[in-house]
Amino acid sequence: MAQRAATHGTRHKVIFGNCQDMHEIPPESIQLTVTSPPYYNAPFDYPGMYRDYDEYLKMLSRVCDELYRVTSPGRVVCFVIDDMLVDGEKLPIVADCTTIMRQTGFRYRDRITWVKPKGYSRISRRSGVLVQHPYPMYFYPDNIQESVVIFQKGRFDYKLIKEIDGETLESSRIDSHMFNENAWNLTVWNITNVLPTNNVLEKGIAAFPDELASRLIQLYSFSHETILDPFMGSGTTAKCAAMLGRNSIGYELIYELKQNILAKISVNNFAKVSFERRIDAIAPATIEAAEGSSAKHAVIPIRKAGEHSLR
Ligand SMILES: C[S@@+](CC[C@H](N)C(=O)[O-])C[C@H]1O[C@@H](n2cnc3c(N)ncnc32)[C@H](O)[C@@H]1O
Repeated sequence: MAQRAATHGTRHKVIFGNCQDMHEIPPESIQLTVTSPPYYNAPFDYPGMYRDYDEYLKMLSRVCDELYRVTSPGRVVCFVIDDMLVDGEKLPIVADCTTIMRQTGFRYRDRITWVKPKGYSRISRRSGVLVQHPYPMYFYPDNIQESVVIFQKGRFDYKLIKEIDGETLESSRIDSHMFNENAWNLTVWNITNVLPTNNVLEKGIAAFPDELASRLIQLYSFSHETILDPFMGSGTTAKCAAMLGRNSIGYELIYELKQNILAKISVNNFAKVSFERRIDAIAPATIEAAEGSSAKHAVIPIRKAGEHSLR
């Protein structure tokens, strides 16, 4: 990932709690959101997390209301998301999320397809069915893409750029060589996904690659602004914000991820990180107890070593 490391202090607030309530964030104080919600009851990552698809969509809808409240006028929210195959049923998560965001009041600005390397195999190679039965109607494609869906709260007032001081504007300038060389201009971005064994900090978390968050932060925010990730996971968005001289706020349900998040943000030696733990955060003890119980719903699953992440 070619990008400038920040040489000044940035501030990062991490709140362990449910992002359906983001009351800690004042209205219109966020300049960009880069996030990836859980993909409903995705096999391996979130099996049995929601009672049904309706409950999942209600959760998304509540988060979108909060996003609308906290986003500054004219600014952008990016969802990294994909349709999901659960129990043989393909769920239109991208379309439903887009509908919810539009109903909330956001404009649908763009959609970029993130393409992973061809050899990337996820949970199973669905196309193998055709190899066994080389006849019509046996075709199921292997998925190597996700969508980056980009929403905007109204329109950006470009006159505001004139009010930004020269130094901030200069440090926010997008490197045109990098832009052209890596084909950022296209609606298809070829970026290698985080491999399950790559980095201990992302083990068992469906993390998106730094390159993805980094591009979005550079394209839709200025230095010193505040970037939100309501579904932090390992903290990739906060890490990229820190590297690019932006501040961040993030929510995560699982308190156990605290050290991963801290280690990631600390990539910027000047970053100041503060943590808050609400009572709706999920402590490791709670998860272990839930794993041992017969509870099927509203349990955040913990992946075991060797299980694959979705990305
Ligand atoms: C797809 S992962 C995010 C991965 C992240 N983009 C990264 O690069 O590490 C989604 C995360 O959202 C968390 N999560 C799920 N529901 C949540 C909620 N209601 N509030 C806060 N966090 C939630 C999960 O625990 C999980 O860590």
